[in-house]
Amino acid sequence: MTDPTLRVLISPERLQARIREMGTQITADYPNGNLHLICVLKGACFFLTDLARAITRDVFVDFMGISTYGKGKTSSGEVKVTKDLDISLEGADVLLVEDIVDSGITLSYLVKLIEQRKPKSLRIAALLDKPERRLRPVEVSYVGFQIPDRFVVGYGLDYAEKYRNLDAICVLDETGPQP
Ligand code: IMP
Ligand code: MG
Repeated sequence: MTDPTLRVLISPERLQARIREMGTQITADYPNGNLHLICVLKGACFFLTDLARAITRDVFVDFMGISTYGKGKTSSGEVKVTKDLDISLEGADVLLVEDIVDSGITLSYLVKLIEQRKPKSLRIAALLDKPERRLRPVEVSYVGFQIPDRFVVGYGLDYAEKYRNLDAICVLDETGPQP
């Protein structure tokens, strides 16, 4: 895709290689038990499908819809569940699959919510982490890439619902196309 407002930060090849490594690690860390991958919609769905295929043991897949109220570049801080899980988590090993950890507000809310469902264990896998932006502490067990404090799009991540289907992670140029 040749869009002058986009600059590739992580190529498709690097993304896929790192996700394969994460899948191998997760497979080794969960030798037994029921492993539930919970995808946080919509951004994490591309990551979820590649990560699930990189995990070479049985998994359950479920989806949780979350809205953080706002179409801009920052979470409003208010989190709302728009789609709840279909499958019970009681006694299961749960891996929450998220696209990016920014302020940590969304994940700290989700962790509290999922803990109420009495899983046996709960960990987080996030493709991207912007540690500089953290407002709430969250423990992320599996991080794909740490990135600087830049707004990124692609591979599930959007700006006002656009750019999700890019196969790379790109930085969106704030200044727009130059004349
Ligand atoms: P947090 O609650 O601030 O940690 O925000 C997490 C959510 O904000 C993510 O799931 C994304 O949907 C969105 N977000 C945060 N940073 C970015 C970004 O750089 N690009 C696109 N979406 C982002
Ligand atoms: Mg998200």
